[in-house]
Amino acid sequence: MSGHSVLLGALSLAVAALVLSVLVQGWDYYATPYAERPHHEGFRVFRSAGDVGHGLGILGSAMVLLLLLYSVRKRNRRLRNLGPLRTWLRYHIFLGVAGPVLITLHTAFKVEGLVAVSYYSMAAVALSGVFGRYLYQQIPRNVLGEALSEQAIEDGREELLVQLSERFGMDQAATDALDRIALDRLGARSTVATLLVLPVVNLGLARRLHSWAMGIDGQRPDEVVDLARRWVLLTRRLHLFRQINDLFHYWHVFHKPFAIIMILVMIVHVAVAVTLGYTWIV
Ligand code: HEM
Ligand code: HEM
Repeated sequence: MSGHSVLLGALSLAVAALVLSVLVQGWDYYATPYAERPHHEGFRVFRSAGDVGHGLGILGSAMVLLLLLYSVRKRNRRLRNLGPLRTWLRYHIFLGVAGPVLITLHTAFKVEGLVAVSYYSMAAVALSGVFGRYLYQQIPRNVLGEALSEQAIEDGREELLVQLSERFGMDQAATDALDRIALDRLGARSTVATLLVLPVVNLGLARRLHSWAMGIDGQRPDEVVDLARRWVLLTRRLHLFRQINDLFHYWHVFHKPFAIIMILVMIVHVAVAVTLGYTWIV
C-alpha cells in the first residue's frame, strides 16, 4: 500500500470519527424544530455559529478551497514534479466528499436564504463528481494520469489491419463485415447505455468472430480470430473514446460553473458573518 493510501485512509477515518461523534452528540439538537432550537441545551454548541457548528463550517470550507488546488496543478506544467495528477485527484475526491459532509453538519440541517444557493451548488458539484469519476476511469491514460491520444489507439488498429490483409488476404467486404461485428450493437444507444451493455455484447463475440474467420482462412481460424478480436476491441475503444471524451467535456461544462457559484456565494456568506461580528471560539 502506498504512503498516499495510508494517509488518505487515516484522514478518512478521522473525518468519519468526527462526523459520527457530532451526529451522536448533536442528534437531539438537529431533530428539534427550528423555532425551539434557541431553548435547546445544544444551541450554543451545534448551531451554525456555535462552537462546534462554526468550526465545522470553517474546516469544511477550507477543505473545499483546498481541493481547487487540483485545477492549479493540472494547468501548471511547472508543478508536474509535485506528483502525478492521479494522486492529486484522489485528494480532490477525499476533500470533495469530506468538505460537503462537514458543511452539511455546519448548516445544522437548516438550509435557507441566499447561502442555500451555495449549499445546493455544492451538493450538485459533489454528486456530479461521482459520475465524472466514472467517466474519467474509462479514458485510457498514461501513468501520470494524462489522457492518451487517439493516435496511439489508431496506430494499433492500422497495424492489425495490415497483418490481416497481408497474411490472410482479408478483402474490403471482410473488413466491412468485421466493422459491423465491432460496432453494430453499439451504434444506436446513448454512450451511457453503451457502457452498460458492453459486457453483454461481448458474450457473443467469440462465436461471431469464428464464423467470420472461416470465410477468410478455414485452415488457420484461431490466428485470424486472435488478430480480429484485438482489432474489434481497439475499434470499440476508439468509438467509445470519442463519445466518452465528448460526454466528459459536457460533464466539465456542468461541474465547473456550479463550483464557481458555490465559492462566490460562500465568500459573500462569510463576509456577512464576519461583518455581523461572528467569530469562532474567541
Ligand atoms: C460553502 C460553505 C458554507 C455553506 C454552504 C454554509 C451554509 C450555512 C447555512 C445554511 C447556515 C444557516 C443559515 C440559517 O440558520 O438560516 C449558515 C450559518 C452560518 N455560517 Fe455558514 N456556510 C458555509 C461556510 C461558512 C464559513 C466558512 C463560515 C465562517 C467563517 C460560516 C459562518 C456561518 C455563521 C457564523 C452562521 C450563523 C449565521 C446566523 O446564525 O445568522 N459559514 N451557514
Ligand atoms: C464541493 C466539492 C467539489 C468541488 C468544488 C469540485 C470542483 C472541481 C473543479 C473546479 C474541477 C475542474 C478541474 C479542472 O479541470 O481544472 C473538478 C474536476 C473533477 N472533479 Fe471535482 N469538485 C468537487 C467534488 C468532487 C467529487 C466528490 C468528486 C468525485 C467523487 C470529484 C471528481 C472530479 C473529477 C473526476 C474531475 C475531473 C478531473 C479532470 O478532468 O482532470 N469532484 N472538480
